[in-house]
Amino acid sequence: MGGARPDGFHDLANVFLAVGLYDEVTATPADELRVTCAGPGADRVPLDRTNLAARAALALAERRGLDADAAAVHLHIGKDIPVAGGMAGGSADAAGALLACDALWGTRASRDELLEICAELGSDVPFSLVGGAALGTGRGERLRPLDVGGTFHWVFAVADGGLSTPAVYREFDRLHEGTDVPEPVASEDLFAALAKGDADALAATLANDLQPAALSLFPPLADTLAAGRAAGALAALVSGSGPTTAFLVRDAESAQVVAGALAASGTCRTARVADSPAPGATVLRGTG
Ligand code: C5P
Repeated sequence: MGGARPDGFHDLANVFLAVGLYDEVTATPADELRVTCAGPGADRVPLDRTNLAARAALALAERRGLDADAAAVHLHIGKDIPVAGGMAGGSADAAGALLACDALWGTRASRDELLEICAELGSDVPFSLVGGAALGTGRGERLRPLDVGGTFHWVFAVADGGLSTPAVYREFDRLHEGTDVPEPVASEDLFAALAKGDADALAATLANDLQPAALSLFPPLADTLAAGRAAGALAALVSGSGPTTAFLVRDAESAQVVAGALAASGTCRTARVADSPAPGATVLRGTG
């Protein structure tokens, strides 16, 4: 990750890997734009127009040349991705809402047009639409698909509480004040490990430049990382801007062992098991 740009964003060489945790977004006609949310952490999801899913509906309406009143849709978000967890859950909801509104309104926006809207909505939204694995450059929105040659197994420890992404980036800036942050470069070894489906090789290359900043704002995460390593994880790191922590494990059996140990460790709220790669936003049901 690079230093702060004049626009405040940071240039990234970010490897995205979609994992099988899903939110479900349902779009139904309504008198006005409305967002509801249910599921774990739903009380911490904003229901006004700052919600990224609401902004996605507004952006699509605007593209159709309609004013904001035309985005009359009820978006219901069934949450399962940890809220404010550093897992791009809000971005996933935005990508889902975009596809749902496109289907509901019969917009038939092209993939490129959808990707453009995604990039306007947030750095992680384009990847949430495409899924799989990709290298994200720029602020993360410019994607190059990556080959994944097998299934990788993960455990995610969901922390008690959340972290604000901008706050973690600000802490990164504070920790690097007065230093020259080099240009971000993606690791060729990481690409090779992904392409081979080699979990040991991937474990050796995993790193997150935001981790020191997340740990500085949320020190108990160090205990969670240690608990997962002690339980046999091949690698342990903060997911995105945190405070969710991610543990790469050898197989499905090991995932259960590590998840059980993390849940029992008292260092996190809950532990979730998920595989990768997983698809991006997908339309599940039409209106018919
Ligand atoms: O793009 P998005 O809205 O998800 O970004 C949220 C915040 O994260 C930004 O306001 C910025 O503070 C920080 N960010 C950044 N550099 C990036 C991506 C995000 O500084 N490449």
